[in-house]
Amino acid sequence: MADKSMEGLNNFTAEEVKVVDTTKKMRIGIIGCGWIADSHMHSYLKQPDVEIVAGADLIPGKAAAFMAKHGVEGAKTDYASHKEMIEDKSLNLDAVSICTYNRQHAQPAIDALNAGINVLLEKPFTVTLDEAVAVMKAEKASGKVLSIGFQPRMDENMKMIKKIVNSGVLGQIYYIQTGGGRRRGIPTPFGTTFIEDKTAGLGALADIGCYSLDMVLNGIGYPKPLTVSGYKSDFFGKDPNYSGYKNGNGPAYSKLFGVDDFAAAFIRLEGGIILDFRIAWAMNLDTPGDTIIMGTKGSLRIPSTECWNGTVGGPMKIYHEVAGAQVETEIPVLKQKEGLFDLKIRTFLDACKNGTKAPVPSSEILYNQAILDGIARSAVAGKEVEIVIPEI
Ligand SMILES: NC(=O)c1ccc[n+]([C@@H]2O[C@H](COP(=O)([O-])OP(=O)(O)OC[C@H]3O[C@@H](n4cnc5c(N)ncnc54)[C@H](O)[C@@H]3O)[C@@H](O)[C@H]2O)c1
Repeated sequence: MADKSMEGLNNFTAEEVKVVDTTKKMRIGIIGCGWIADSHMHSYLKQPDVEIVAGADLIPGKAAAFMAKHGVEGAKTDYASHKEMIEDKSLNLDAVSICTYNRQHAQPAIDALNAGINVLLEKPFTVTLDEAVAVMKAEKASGKVLSIGFQPRMDENMKMIKKIVNSGVLGQIYYIQTGGGRRRGIPTPFGTTFIEDKTAGLGALADIGCYSLDMVLNGIGYPKPLTVSGYKSDFFGKDPNYSGYKNGNGPAYSKLFGVDDFAAAFIRLEGGIILDFRIAWAMNLDTPGDTIIMGTKGSLRIPSTECWNGTVGGPMKIYHEVAGAQVETEIPVLKQKEGLFDLKIRTFLDACKNGTKAPVPSSEILYNQAILDGIARSAVAGKEVEIVIPEI
């Protein structure tokens, strides 16, 4: 039903002019100076009210090389770990980006919040539910901003999913299918921190599974998860001949592989909603299917992408009935004016400066983490488990 020729007709509103107050520069530190820290740095350097004052990495010299690569002068980097940097009172840090591997998300976040520093924590929130709860207790005690790094949240198409649900056009939602996959996409281009248990803790489940859960749970207002029956496997990662391992790394990487490369689950949510989920870093299939949200008045189909990364793979469609006729309404893919990462950083900075709600609040991602944790527990137990979320 969408008519492309009408695009723009409803766009006569004036462009919003965003003015950034530059009278006080935000003093930022980066914890973990690896792959994703580059994206944080690129976005921080575009902001007129930011000064990068420090960086820390466990690997000696890595933080200094990182600052040099980005042309940042004067930042202090001589720290053996995040803790020394946080304890350096001379820095007067306003905020930190935590870009460490999954198993090092909780402690740096707790230490930073306890020191009264705002935190932008990379996704996944943590590895376990207990860790997420501990971070949130520190957040509550500190009164500081904690935002979790889900940049797909900034995508206009993701916001549209929520708007569609809130419009009521789908009626009562009762069943959701979500997830995604890659044929050969175990992430090892920058080493093995994604695939070793001691650094990653969880594999595809936490890396891209958290995005697919957020796509639908954010869309429907994050109902509480109640029970989960989960499964995980590692057939591709443990195979020395897996064709995605390059440069002869197969034998070594397959030995180190200690996480999941595929996971599936059946989750019951409050409100009688069923969530059917699967996620793959590697599989012999093009896609494990589109995301669908089924409701009593209409259902939404969100096309999958080939290499799943948490985005919308094409125009979404609503299947519904109008005057007794079964019709489909196509929602054209919305163009994004600003980069998602730039928005992730900007909205975090604004929340810190204005003391407003985190753009991606821990209170929502707690339920996402509870599901990941439940899937991992259920997979080990070989049966359905209850999800119990402690008071914070
Ligand atoms: N938002 C996104 O699009 C996106 C993309 C990729 C990765 N990530 C997330 O970012 C995190 C990091 O991924 P990466 O690919 O950059 O990993 P990486 O291994 O390249 O970098 C992590 C760095 O953190 C350092 N580190 C670990 N613990 C530390 C500590 N306590 N103090 C100081 N330094 C510490 C390590 O030495 C390493 O250099 C992961 O949790 C991942 O899920 C997010």
